[in-house]
Amino acid sequence: MKVSNEVATISKEINAWVKTLDKDDRPRIQPAEIALLTHYIRQLVLYDTLMEIGTGWGGSVAIFNKVCESAGRSNVRIVTIDNGSNFSRFGPKDGTTYDDFISNRLTSIYGVRASRLGAGVFCVHADSTKLYWLARDINLLFIDGAHTYEGVKGDIKNMVPHVAPGGVVIFHDYHMEGVRRAVDEFLGEEGLVIENRGGATVAVRMP
Ligand SMILES: C[S@@+](CC[C@H](N)C(=O)[O-])C[C@H]1O[C@@H](n2cnc3c(N)ncnc32)[C@H](O)[C@@H]1O
Repeated sequence: MKVSNEVATISKEINAWVKTLDKDDRPRIQPAEIALLTHYIRQLVLYDTLMEIGTGWGGSVAIFNKVCESAGRSNVRIVTIDNGSNFSRFGPKDGTTYDDFISNRLTSIYGVRASRLGAGVFCVHADSTKLYWLARDINLLFIDGAHTYEGVKGDIKNMVPHVAPGGVVIFHDYHMEGVRRAVDEFLGEEGLVIENRGGATVAVRMP
């Protein structure tokens, strides 16, 4: 995608910051994906909601937070959801809970201030298929949860109806067969198209 000078400057700053992190802590998000995220985060306004499915080890939240800071969007609310399934499988087996693990990583490694006055970063330990969520107030939805066809279908079914009119849905790992099939079906059914892509990440704007 073609990026503006401002997006290029912010992305460069974020990429430089990523390189200051220990190799194991670096978010698995490529420079082209950071540019795409920056492009859309810059379109958010005061108290808009950026919601992510799949907090994982917090790398993407760290990027969202950093972009919000650099782009003067510190009052954007970031809500990130994970059911802890990867943590149960691959996380430490020393009794640490996922909630403690992720809040510790976000604050100590990524410098995220967990609670900002009036807005903030909210980590929700929940299953995206069982959320009780009524409002249509998600402005930017980042889907990076289960990467199976059924998982992505489920997230589209449960979460996309809560995206505000004109809001954007970003799918990570579109190069994976199950993700691509679910996204392509969704686009076909809704008559939508990919608005932008960066690396293996694609963005779709809702009507
Ligand atoms: C690819 S990882 C996310 C990586 C993360 N965005 C990062 O940058 O570190 C996918 C995450 O989705 C979570 N997940 C899978 N199915 C889920 C569901 N139904 N609801 C919520 N989270 C889910 C897994 O526990 C895992 O942590």
